[in-house]
Amino acid sequence: MSHSYKDGRPTVARRLHIKTYGCQMNVYDSDRMADLMAPHGFELADAPDGADLVIINTCHIREKAGEKVYSDLGRLRPHKEAKAASGGRMLVAVAGCVAQAEGAEIMRRAPTVDIIVGPQAYHRLPEMVAQVMRGAGRALDTDFPVDSKFDHMPVPSQGTGPAAFLTIQEGCDKFCTFCVVPYTRGEEVSRPAEAIVAEARRLVAGGTVEITLLGQNVNAWHGAAPDGRGSWGLGRLIRELADLPGLARLRYTTSHPRDLDDDLIAAHRDVPQCMPFLHLPVQSGSDRILAAMNRGHDAQAYRDLVARLRQAQPDLALSSDFIVGFPGETEADFEATLALAREIGFAQAYTFKYSARPGTPASQMEGHVPEPEKERRLGLLQAAIAETQLAFNRTTVGRTLSVLMERPGRRPGQLIGRTPYMQSIHATAPQAMLGQLVEMVVESAGPNSLAGRLPDTAPGEAA
Ligand code: SAH
Ligand code: SF4
Ligand code: F3S
Repeated sequence: MSHSYKDGRPTVARRLHIKTYGCQMNVYDSDRMADLMAPHGFELADAPDGADLVIINTCHIREKAGEKVYSDLGRLRPHKEAKAASGGRMLVAVAGCVAQAEGAEIMRRAPTVDIIVGPQAYHRLPEMVAQVMRGAGRALDTDFPVDSKFDHMPVPSQGTGPAAFLTIQEGCDKFCTFCVVPYTRGEEVSRPAEAIVAEARRLVAGGTVEITLLGQNVNAWHGAAPDGRGSWGLGRLIRELADLPGLARLRYTTSHPRDLDDDLIAAHRDVPQCMPFLHLPVQSGSDRILAAMNRGHDAQAYRDLVARLRQAQPDLALSSDFIVGFPGETEADFEATLALAREIGFAQAYTFKYSARPGTPASQMEGHVPEPEKERRLGLLQAAIAETQLAFNRTTVGRTLSVLMERPGRRPGQLIGRTPYMQSIHATAPQAMLGQLVEMVVESAGPNSLAGRLPDTAPGEAA
């Protein structure tokens, strides 16, 4: 890039706007792209207006997610033209899973786009930006390079938030028949334990008290042990991270029921930092559908797993993902899903209508469920989950919970935090408590959040 440098830093500030879709791993990746561009003078901007570089970090998981890219690109065009009219240049990059799956087509269809970069290649972004700025043409990189992007990450300079993500594993070899992730993120790769511990240390030094370990299949993590001999499992890693002074909370997501081993279950029992909340997607309660989905477990295996988890940690809140209207799903299959959802009593769950994805085996299956029927099933399942969620929220009323105060609330003097069970809780509390773990009495429970008060305030003050 052609800008002047002083003490090794560029002197002209450039504006970088990133829009992020999809899972937490995309959130993590967007932050890393910002870290990568920072040494080249790019500062984060909230809006695309006048930006020198706009990155759309995309998600391909369901049909709607992909469509958003083109409407975003349409909206960016006037910004790009305005920038050009004022003598500047706005580069537009499409990153993430749609870039991986449809990069070449996006290049063809959308002249606004200068750069396409896949989720495993974004460490090459500065180089690609430089290439385009030089006038050497548009840049596309959707390789799965042998040099891991993780080896190229600069150490972030700014402080880290109270709660942070840390990607430890990428990709997926499970090939659920509905899912694009194995194609967009590639095969399962685990980062070495040492690199993870080093990154966690940096986060804690920057002020982070809660770390969520991320992976498309996070509990399949099997990173190299620090001494180079053999590999560790996630249970072992959690024990190691729990020893970091100042790290009060550990979470991990997303887990697959097939990879939840005894040591990880034991970590829920033994490690106080391991939060009593687990997102463990079941997708369906019907064995026939689970088999057609290639999930590798039946409903009973899921029930047994939950029983073992609750035996190890009786105080465990569970969450799940569900898909309704998978091809061939009958009313009876759907009833089995409803029954399982009620029986487990999920503290929360994400529900999706099946969306046919190009190239996946399920998209070729017989018996696609009509849209209105998917809609009906979704409504029923959401109502069932709303019930179990409210019931769970009510069990916490009157308890004193440790809450991580994460952000200001809607009302003046209010802060919003998270309980150990991932519930959102608001209370009147001093601003100085932002970023801190504080004890909070739960006063009342709604369907989606709690109201609390500091123990030294009178009941009813919170509201
Ligand atoms: N790796 C995780 C989650 C991956 S995607 C896991 O295995 O559970 C997040 C969720 O999106 C999935 O759990 C699934 O419920 C949903 N999903 C994935 N593909 C989908 C599709 N084609 N249609 C509808 N929902 C889908
Ligand atoms: Fe997709 Fe299944 Fe892999 Fe999850 S486990 S990412 S749903 S293929
Ligand atoms: Fe979406 Fe890719 Fe994540 S498809 S859910 S952004 S892994």
